[in-house]
Amino acid sequence: MPELARFSSMLRTAQRGGYAVAAFNVYNLESIAAALRAAIATRTPVIVALGERYFPNMRPATARAIVDTLLAQHAREGQAVPPVGLHLDHATSPEHCSEAIRAGFTSVMIDGSHLPYRENVRLTRAVVEEAHAHGVEVEAELGGLAAGEASHEFATGEEALTDPDQAREFVAETGVDALAVSVGTVHGLYRGEPRIDLDRLAAIHARVDVPLVLHGGSGTPAGLLRECVARGVAKVNVNTEISLAAVHRIREELEARPRAHFAELGLVAVPEMEEVMKDYIRRFGAAGVLPGI
Ligand code: 13P
Repeated sequence: MPELARFSSMLRTAQRGGYAVAAFNVYNLESIAAALRAAIATRTPVIVALGERYFPNMRPATARAIVDTLLAQHAREGQAVPPVGLHLDHATSPEHCSEAIRAGFTSVMIDGSHLPYRENVRLTRAVVEEAHAHGVEVEAELGGLAAGEASHEFATGEEALTDPDQAREFVAETGVDALAVSVGTVHGLYRGEPRIDLDRLAAIHARVDVPLVLHGGSGTPAGLLRECVARGVAKVNVNTEISLAAVHRIREELEARPRAHFAELGLVAVPEMEEVMKDYIRRFGAAGVLPGI
């Protein structure tokens, strides 16, 4: 059974290598299969991220079982499998973090960004204590992203940019392993041109010694992403565009063959998702970072 990769090792290796690890949101067999195929095809480490939002689709134990099964299958077929992490994305409840820890996730994100600062610290620190006791690492968020178009996870969202001094204090007080920051990306598609506050990102990076995480990857151009990577971003989350590509392809299939079987609709979506994922891996400067495998 292939081992999953340690979260902080993946992110710190990425920081040293000048790229960001892609974290793709997953919610079914097809999206997990696409993420692993994209990783193998591009010889790139990836993080498979199950959002708390998608617990009605799949609980952590199911995600872990699918990841293990597919990785073992790829290995049996003689494919070189890059490091893969399994992450809980945007959990608001410590119980859900515990569930993911028990299921063998490599990292969890506790999102207390909507809470007053001290409550965010308290919640995050409690999750860090439990996770670290089990060898699991933690991402937390300070500041908040605006909701763009077609965002499924966040219908509304007041933008609150991360304060660099508060970021330093937050990391020191909580002991988190990675910090998600708000510097102008949005969850979903941008309503206009993306405006990323690169100076703010540089100021956070100068004060914080853990890898930084950028949420709201969808629609962010390659050039801007490279600028973010140069300022400490080691992981970028992508969700909306992957789903849009899958749904578009399924709609096309249904228009061409209205009586298509449900089983076929899942299958046609996988290569579409894989293509979008590979495109983001390239945008993050991560494609082929493991040439030896
Ligand atoms: P997008 O939907 O904008 O790609 O954002 C994904 C995300 O940040 C998941 O946490």
